[in-house]
Formats: sequence, structure tokens, C-alpha cells
Amino acid sequence: MSAFPVTRLRRFRRTASLRGLVRETRLSLDQFVMPLFVASEPLANEELPGMARFDVEGLLRETDSLAASGVRALLLFGVPAEKDEEATGAWEDDGIVQQALRALRPRFPELVLLTDVCLCEYTSHGHCGVVADGDVDNDRSLELLARTAVSHAEAGADVVAPSDMMDGRVGAIREALDDHGLERTPILAYSAKYASAFYGPFREAADSAPAFGDRRGYQMDPANVREAVRECKIDLAEGADAIMIKPALPYLDVIRAAREAFQVPLAAYNVSGEYAMVKAAARAGWLDERAAALESLTAIKRAGADLIVSYWTKDLTTWL
Ligand code: PBG
Repeated sequence: MSAFPVTRLRRFRRTASLRGLVRETRLSLDQFVMPLFVASEPLANEELPGMARFDVEGLLRETDSLAASGVRALLLFGVPAEKDEEATGAWEDDGIVQQALRALRPRFPELVLLTDVCLCEYTSHGHCGVVADGDVDNDRSLELLARTAVSHAEAGADVVAPSDMMDGRVGAIREALDDHGLERTPILAYSAKYASAFYGPFREAADSAPAFGDRRGYQMDPANVREAVRECKIDLAEGADAIMIKPALPYLDVIRAAREAFQVPLAAYNVSGEYAMVKAAARAGWLDERAAALESLTAIKRAGADLIVSYWTKDLTTWL
């Protein structure tokens, strides 16, 4: 390889068209998923517009506009009217997410409807599983998670995405789906989900902060990457069709490690805290929101993600 002055990397940077010819990473709306919160009572969010709560009627209107502007996929979260120890609202037939799915499905046959499968929004204590003796009981949680996934798929979900981080949940969900004739429903596993400080705004939007303790007993230690590869491998062995790394921007090395280790669709979740930091800095006049968001999302793709869950998906319809 020749060096300067024969080699000048600036030659291909001179104009926008030259740069376009050699660009390695591109963002396309096809690979973005918009998270949406559905509740019995709507709740506006002036500061973080991507994180408002919609009632089913409002969700239909919002989806009309998202679908018309080119959004291809939604990830639904539910905020139930009532919470209990058994997370009844997560798996009951007329739970809030199930109602939303039944309203959306016939109206938007082309739209990909993904659902977050977890118990934390539905338990009175806000943990992602059943609590026994002050601890989240792994094996007792599996049955409720599987029941939740089946009820979502029966109500019209195209893809179920377990985010609880219990051991064995992918296998339990796969078996339950198959037992109910839902063998065509794929599982997108939140395989490497870290116990992160960046979920703050989400927990407010979803009303899912744990009432005691934290999630470090089931979500991953931010210091570990080899363990993330193990989590992915185990989820794939249990039947995951696609895997996810979460959060995204502080974990680009984890995305890269998963990309190199597995030949499967890889998702990254650009979480609420990543979105909120840029929003707040933009409001203070310190960052340009569009430029900072596009740069962040490009970095997440460059690291190796195929699809990205992002609260900026709606903005991308005008930005791209
Ligand atoms: C549910 C869940 C959480 C997020 C997605 N699914 C919160 C948590 O684990 O506490 C966070 C998403 C975000 O911050 O945008 N378990």
C-alpha cells in the first residue's frame, strides 16, 4: 500500500457525492422499530415526545400517521390499570397490549407488530418476574412469561421479544408457542440486556421501576462482554430467531462481539436514556439533535446491528 503523497484519503471526501460513493453504512427506515406505550389513560410527554402513553384509540391514530410516513415496525409496551403479584395484566386475554394488538392487527396487516414480553410493568413490586422470599424466582416466572408470549401471539403479534433476563425463558416461550400452534412466531431475545442506568426515562413512561432493590440479580453486569456472548449462544440454543443487545451506544463493543460470533439477525436497543441525553443537550443548545441522533444510529449500525429499536424512528421519517 502506498503512502503520502501518492495516497490522499481526502480525495474521496471532497464532495457529498464522492463521500456517498464510498459510504460503508446506511440507515434505512426498513430496519427501525418504533417503541410505543399503550395504557388505559393517555399521558403526554412534552420533553420526550417519543415516550408518551397512548390509549388504544390514540395508538390507532398515531399508528395511522407512522405507517403513512413509512414506519414498518412497532414494539409495544403496556401500562396496565392494575398491578398484582402474578402480573395478571401481562397475560390475561383482555390485557392492554392484547387489546392494542386486536385493534391494530386488522387495520395494519403489513405493519410488523413486536411485543415486549416482561412482567415488570405488571407486577405490584416492579420486578421482571415473580418474587418469592424477597428474590425473583426464576423458574416460577417462566410459566407466566410463556403465557404472556402466547397471549400476545394469539392477539396478533408478529414477533415476541422477551426482555426479562430469566434463565431458560426463550426455551419456555418456544415450547409454549409451539404447543399452541404458533410455530411461525419468531422470538427476538433481549439476550444481552445490561443492568443499566440508561433506562430511567423508560421506567417513568412504563411505570416499571422496582419498588425495592434493583435488577442486578438478573440483568447483566455492565463490565462483562464474554458473558454477553454466552447469553446469546444460550438463547440461540433455546430457539431464539434473533438476538438483541441493550443498551446500544455504551455497548458498541458488545454489538461487534455478537456480530462476529453469530450469523443471525442482530438487534440493538437505542434506549430511553440515550435518547433523553441528546434531547436534553439539544434543548440546552449544546447539540444539534438531528445530527447527534443520526451519528449515534449510524455508529450502532456500523458496530454490526441489523435492526435498531429507537425512539427517533418517527423523526427518521422526515430526517432520512
Ligand atoms: C422491561 C424493559 C425495560 C426496557 C425495555 N424493556 C426496562 C428495564 O429493564 O428496567 C428499557 C428500555 C429503555 O430504556 O428504552 N423489562
